[in-house]
Amino acid sequence: MYSQVIKPFIQSYNGFASCEGEECFKVTIAGASGGIGQPLSMLMKMNPFVKELSLFDLQHTPGVAVDLSHIETPCKVKAFMGADQRREALKDANIIIVSAGVPRKPGMTRDDLFNVNAYIIKDLAEAAAEVAPNALIAIITNPVNSVIPVACEVMKKANKFDPRRIFGVTTLDIVRTNTFVAEALKIDPKEVNVPVIGGHAGDTIVPLFSRSKPHVSFSDEQIIAMTKRIQNAGTEVVEAKAGAGSATLSMAYSAARFANALMRGLRGEQNVIECAYVASDYGGASYFATPLLLGKDGIKENLGVGELNDFEKKLVETAIPILIENIKTGVDFVNPK
Ligand code: NAD
Ligand code: LMR
Repeated sequence: MYSQVIKPFIQSYNGFASCEGEECFKVTIAGASGGIGQPLSMLMKMNPFVKELSLFDLQHTPGVAVDLSHIETPCKVKAFMGADQRREALKDANIIIVSAGVPRKPGMTRDDLFNVNAYIIKDLAEAAAEVAPNALIAIITNPVNSVIPVACEVMKKANKFDPRRIFGVTTLDIVRTNTFVAEALKIDPKEVNVPVIGGHAGDTIVPLFSRSKPHVSFSDEQIIAMTKRIQNAGTEVVEAKAGAGSATLSMAYSAARFANALMRGLRGEQNVIECAYVASDYGGASYFATPLLLGKDGIKENLGVGELNDFEKKLVETAIPILIENIKTGVDFVNPK
């Protein structure tokens, strides 16, 4: 079943072969029992690069782990529950994926989540600095624009900060953009790749249609409408779920795609490129999402913003002051005046 169904299924969206020995990784998911955490844990259990999957949450991980452990793949699944087991869950992980935290309800902004989620990220980053300082840390938890600075500031305080290793996961913005463009062009989404830069909230999300592969020749009206839809896509899901949370399944898919890219980089594969929100320096914003070349230590090269057309320049001009404010919120949380 594994070679007939699962491997071709995984290959169909990732395009990789199975791994051996040192090319396999320990992945920890923090928030593993949640709406994102559970399907993401399943996708990681099915990923042949993952030899050990550590599930951490404040609740329910023993059941999730037993359930997953019956899936016929070699990856070993271990459960860790409660703050007391946080360090053990993270210990020696190659990759830590964080989806721990509260999601939005209709009427809320991502910023409204900061007061709760910043503490969760701080605790996890402190533990990671201690027990998994070389892990690549991929943070899904919102507000991404502010909690990535929280994680980085915590790492700096512990003298363990390596800007190549901490990522705000913005892959869902790319996945959505590819999907919407493919729908408009009536082509297979796998043929489409559109970089999305900036941040992960409203006006800070900047899709670069000028850089679309394949080239698109949308009218100005179409570009404006599609940009708005992408910037509002998270809210579209929150409203459709009507109080039951935000995007979970498309996010689990996106995080699995991003984690897989990190592992391909760790394995030494060439030309692995994904966008993510990372420590950077663009127009005064000390964190910015751009395409990144991934390698054995995380970011091998930040490929930067590149050429923008006039419309995209305006979007970036709007995004930067918002990002600067969002970043300040995160930095000040760790370093109160
Ligand atoms: P959820 O409520 O379904 O799951 C969150 C899980 O985190 C729960 O199981 C909860 O027990 C756990 N948790 C809470 N505090 C914890 C702690 N201190 N340590 C470990 N686990 C803890 O929420 P969800 O739908 O899975 O969303 C999770 C987060 O992801 C939210 O902040 C949401 O806004 C964000 N999100 C981000 C993106 C993105 O594109 N980056 C997309 C969707 C959702
Ligand atoms: C998303 O873009 O779907 C997430 O950031 C969740 C949200 O609150 O919109």
